[in-house]
Amino acid sequence: MTYSLFDINPENARARHEALAAEIRRHDTLYYQADAPEIADAQYDALRQELEELERRYPELAVKESPTQSVGAAPAQGFRKIRHAVPMLSLSNVFTTEDLGDFFERVRRFLGLKEEEPLEFMAEPKIDGLSCTLRYENGILLQAATRGDGVEGEEITANVKTIRDIPHRLPPGAPVLLEVRGEIYMSRKSFAVLNENQAAAGKPVFANPRNAAAGSVRQLDSSITAARPLHFFAYGLGEVSQEIADTQFQILQKLKDWSLPVNESTDVVATVEQAMRYYTAILESRAVLDYDLDGVVYKVNRLDWQDRLGFVSRAPRWAAAHKFPAEQAVTILRGIDIQVGRTGTLTPVARLEPVNVGGVIVSNATLHNEDEINRKGVRIGDTVVIQRAGDVIPQIVRVLTDKRTGAETPFVFPDHCPACGSSAIRAEGEVARRCTGGLICPAQAVERLRHFVSRLAFDIEGMGSKIVEEFYQDGLLRSPADIFALEFLNQTLVPPLEEREGWGRQSVRNLFSSINARRRISLERFIYALGIRQVGEATARRLAAHYKTWENLREGLLNAQSGPEMASYRDLLSIEDVGLAVSADLLVFFAEEHNRDVLAALEKEVAIDPYEGADLDSPVAGKTVVFTGTLETMTRQEAKARALALGVKVAGSVSKATDYVVVGADSGSKLKKAQELGVEILSEAAWRTLSEG
Ligand code: IVH
Repeated sequence: MTYSLFDINPENARARHEALAAEIRRHDTLYYQADAPEIADAQYDALRQELEELERRYPELAVKESPTQSVGAAPAQGFRKIRHAVPMLSLSNVFTTEDLGDFFERVRRFLGLKEEEPLEFMAEPKIDGLSCTLRYENGILLQAATRGDGVEGEEITANVKTIRDIPHRLPPGAPVLLEVRGEIYMSRKSFAVLNENQAAAGKPVFANPRNAAAGSVRQLDSSITAARPLHFFAYGLGEVSQEIADTQFQILQKLKDWSLPVNESTDVVATVEQAMRYYTAILESRAVLDYDLDGVVYKVNRLDWQDRLGFVSRAPRWAAAHKFPAEQAVTILRGIDIQVGRTGTLTPVARLEPVNVGGVIVSNATLHNEDEINRKGVRIGDTVVIQRAGDVIPQIVRVLTDKRTGAETPFVFPDHCPACGSSAIRAEGEVARRCTGGLICPAQAVERLRHFVSRLAFDIEGMGSKIVEEFYQDGLLRSPADIFALEFLNQTLVPPLEEREGWGRQSVRNLFSSINARRRISLERFIYALGIRQVGEATARRLAAHYKTWENLREGLLNAQSGPEMASYRDLLSIEDVGLAVSADLLVFFAEEHNRDVLAALEKEVAIDPYEGADLDSPVAGKTVVFTGTLETMTRQEAKARALALGVKVAGSVSKATDYVVVGADSGSKLKKAQELGVEILSEAAWRTLSEG
């Protein structure tokens, strides 16, 4: 039976509401869970509008189970963003015993520990799920969020509340504010059952328990999450209102006392040998566990030492993940495709006969570059051994030459770009072959646009890879600034976006609102979004921290064009992480007129916030400091790291440009030089007082 709103009366309104709600939920499931929508967005929007209208007329129908009330109301808007009070970082990896020894040694050196001084690490299994932070206020679970990019995550409170392991209330005695960090995962058994059900219902199956857990948490309808058997292990803290422990060991104890699930297979280790014994035991237990591990994690046990060690880029110095070895499988190489990256690099990608490698179906592997193809001697049709380790892109390890039939064909690396036909050249000393097409090359343009809107850059929700490509093909987008002109352009488009296949009024509106939400952006994201060669996230942040504002950076780089004798050139090179190669790429980017045009157009569309990193408030930000002699309360390396985090430039030698020389015991020539030049000399204690404000 079909209804129209005109037929609705108080008698049948409830039935219509129920039917509509059920229908909307079904489409949500198809769209979000199965990635297989049955109706166009426009039809979906119409259903939602009808439901909303119905609830306006009969407000008593707007119950909390209604799709209008569920998380993120309109699905295309997704989840609310949450800024983490304490960033959620990643871990640096070690793979071998040697790497592990280096890690232990680095920590000792940084802390300045003597050989006989004990250094304990907490060793924990590394759960292969997705990280999550739980915020308890006055003992009540108020908010849960995903890690996201580490700075901002997505709010998933309603979904997390459906996970039975996670208490909604903490017993008395817990701090007023307690943020618990841990891993959400799905057991292997539940994963197998879920996939059987998915397959039986004709829905796509998940590649592994991790994906299944992530897919289940990112459901806009929390009743779907509730039906998925998810679990949680707590492994650490975020923001807390009071210190609760002196060691990581005690943190885990406390979490357990507060009825949060904590993995039992942890241990305290003090030597590389003990750590290796722990690692081997966990590796061996892996086969009998009902959940996936991808390694073990070692964390310096003492929290005061963790504080001193601090962070490098996005990972703590006080922890390391010891990854399990790569898993291997044998398959057939069906072909080699060439991908063109946003900087024009031609990358060969192996197309493989799909094969299961340690629970993940692999059908592509990287071949890096043409030398790699020659070195490995791969031919199309070869039987190859492939491996994957953690999140790393699968690789071809070697060819099984005894399996050759003679039908295999060698691969000739193209000397023209497959995307635009321009010649692809390999510069002296470089391994990569690069397309010379620049902006006329659609692959580069599309890849640049994709990078520009990607999560760590402008993070424009609803503007996925396919849409970028489609808009590019249709001439709606050529360069990044066009994104911000899209809404205006749409007024003159025939047909407008709303009438395109797969689009509707609501989805177009959502797209424009997520674009408009990004008209303000932090300096570091903006720099990263430009996709300059070798300027990744960490370097972008360093540049932002150095120049502070976009105007400074632009002026600095334009002035530096005039050559090495310019102060701004030396200034650029003084930035940590910016060597000759990176500075050359930055200068080339700013030298090209079409890039400057793109920047000018972007400056009209977006407001770039000055860098807001912690160092801006520091009284010593921007100062140049030289450390000399033996310091008492910290090692020189530690002093340098702390100073850098405060926005200080640490120099190796004293000059007129030096603001302070911090002297420890036995400082020699640098102290003398400072006296000669009249540079201010500080004791270690005076420096601490000054820098710590
Ligand atoms: S500690 C600042 N401990 O591994 C360090 N992480 O590769 C925060 N993970 O994002 C992480 N088990 O999702 C820590 N016992 C454990 C862990 C663990 C799994 C995940 C976590 C993190 C990722 C880093």
